[in-house]
Amino acid sequence: MIAGQIGKSFAAEVYGIDLWQKLAPDDIQELKTILDRYPVAVVRHDTPLTDEEHISFSRLLGPVESKPVLTTSGSGKNRIPHFEIIDQSNLDETGGIYADDDRRLAFKRANRLWHTDMSFHSNRATWSLLSAHALPSDGGPPTEFANMRAAYKALPEDMKRKIGRLTAEHSYWYSRVAGGGPPATAEELASRPPARHPLVHERGGRKALYVASHASHIVEWPEEDGRALLDELMAFATQPQFIYAHQWQVGDVVIWDNLATMHRARPFDDRNQIRDVRRTTCREADPAEAS
Ligand code: OGA
Ligand code: MN
Repeated sequence: MIAGQIGKSFAAEVYGIDLWQKLAPDDIQELKTILDRYPVAVVRHDTPLTDEEHISFSRLLGPVESKPVLTTSGSGKNRIPHFEIIDQSNLDETGGIYADDDRRLAFKRANRLWHTDMSFHSNRATWSLLSAHALPSDGGPPTEFANMRAAYKALPEDMKRKIGRLTAEHSYWYSRVAGGGPPATAEELASRPPARHPLVHERGGRKALYVASHASHIVEWPEEDGRALLDELMAFATQPQFIYAHQWQVGDVVIWDNLATMHRARPFDDRNQIRDVRRTTCREADPAEAS
């Protein structure tokens, strides 16, 4: 297995790894070492992984959710018959492009805001694995990633001191509205209450800024002051020197560390062009055991 740095210093293309086959424990360890160094890792394939291959590979990295984590009112059936897969395409259950008024499409567009996956959950996402099945003919929009370790490191010392003990509240429904989606119904709100996390995530002696468009306010501060601080931190962390933009090819699997990066989707003509990308998400704790 070889990791070749691409773009900025926190992204790599990984060669010599076959996600189709069950990897040996030594290989998993090697991959985890690479992911520890490069929180965004790209593995290219000629043919997209099947959903089953995608799920079984993800399980080697960590526990994967296998139940829906929230309810979207009025949504139809799932296109993909595996709860482990989050369908990030613009396709409905018939395989056609979403109707204009489909709530799911409106909610999905909030992915265009900078975020980290599942910060709205107490059992956060660790790695996400996004697999490209079909793309617009020009490859479609890139997915952009921000290096939250580098961003933290670059913060002025007084800011580091200020945020060291602060906590943000994160809500899925907050970012849906911020992204232009409709307000959540009572049923939707109840299906996924907010979660609280420190603004600074520390692991193995390394610190990363942990913010996202899901963050609605700072628990310890008046709402407006907290909102202003979150805006400032989000703007700081998404400056060009911290960004890698991944240009997709069909068959790519991009693995990212949600506790060390933020990411966002970019706009495209989602009413006319098909973009079929599918995600699995590993979690800090086994969802079957965590609350
Ligand atoms: C995701 C996500 C961005 C994209 O799958 O979690 O935010 O470009 N995707 O599809
Ligand atoms: Mn995401």
